[in-house]
Amino acid sequence: MFEELDALLSEAQGACALAVDANELRDHEVRFLGKKGSVTELLKGMKNVAPADRPAVGARVNDVRAGIEAAIAERRAVLEDARIAALCDDPSFDPSLPAPEATTATVGALHPLTVVTQHVEDVFRAMGFMLLDYPEIETEFNNFDALNIPASHPARDMQDTFWLKSPGRLLRTHTSTGQVRTMRAHKAPFRAIFPGRVFRYESTDASHEHTFHQVEGLMVDKKTSVANLIYSMKTLLSEIFERDVTVRLRPGFFPFVEPGFELDIQCQVCGGSGCSVCKHSGWVELLPCGLVHPNVLRHGGLDPDEWQGWAFGLGLSRLVMMKYQIEDIRHLLSGDLRFVSQFRRG
Ligand code: FA5
Repeated sequence: MFEELDALLSEAQGACALAVDANELRDHEVRFLGKKGSVTELLKGMKNVAPADRPAVGARVNDVRAGIEAAIAERRAVLEDARIAALCDDPSFDPSLPAPEATTATVGALHPLTVVTQHVEDVFRAMGFMLLDYPEIETEFNNFDALNIPASHPARDMQDTFWLKSPGRLLRTHTSTGQVRTMRAHKAPFRAIFPGRVFRYESTDASHEHTFHQVEGLMVDKKTSVANLIYSMKTLLSEIFERDVTVRLRPGFFPFVEPGFELDIQCQVCGGSGCSVCKHSGWVELLPCGLVHPNVLRHGGLDPDEWQGWAFGLGLSRLVMMKYQIEDIRHLLSGDLRFVSQFRRG
């Protein structure tokens, strides 16, 4: 029995020392120490051992089991060290990357500006509007002259402009640049919206950014009216807010509309009681609009005696602020994931 036990121990030690990987080592563990393994089989033979010898044989069996366990542990440590060393030698392995569990758990989210832009697009598409896209680098003509704002007009000062080195080029200060472009490219009658980024050389505060988003809307037909315009604006706001919001309409001056209006929304951040977003007035300028000026129609190649139009220039960034009660516009383009991740759906 002792000889069998010694032979078993050296067989197991030899096999473990030669195991090439963890799987082979596991097979040896089962073969020698498992429920139906060699050591168990030997123990079954204890009944044939003289009672007086059993304590010594039992102790020897335990030694052999411990010896096999030690051989397995030793080989396992060697194989693990070799596995890690091979990984470290692999140039494609980067130990500074997060563990796979950490990366698979991350879920992306649409930016609130994207969510609201898509919502606005859906509302106008349902009302038969085309969706158009225009360049951010514009000509002085499309940004100003075509909109009835010649070089000498004081209205140019209303929108502080980033002029480019290239003469007559600028970063568009509003999406109204698309008005004459649309008239020239599409046969009237038409209705269209064109969302996008705009840029103004101005200092920032809770409700002003140098880079922000607008959506322009333009409808041209034989007969349009202010009633038509106001109805479309109200439809938009009730769809976006999914409830009634308090607005006010007042006269507004823009050289490219006549008459012109300012549609303000009651500040949704403070509920109208006054805060830094509404400059303590309770109202936020959101949606200037009006009937297209005849000179703009002419620049677009349309006869103002035949065609009429209305237009609006929605402050999209401010709409997002009002919808989600964001207390500072500068969060929107801050790139701060702590801000954006609050808008995950579900
Ligand atoms: C315009 O840009 C006109 N083009 C709008 C227009 C279009 C009038 C068509 C009539 C017909 P205004 O400069 O007011 O107008 O800007 C429009 C909206 O953009 C404002 O009501 C406001 O909501 C938003 N806005 C203006 N300046 C900023 C700014 N610095 N930061 C964030 N939002 C702004």
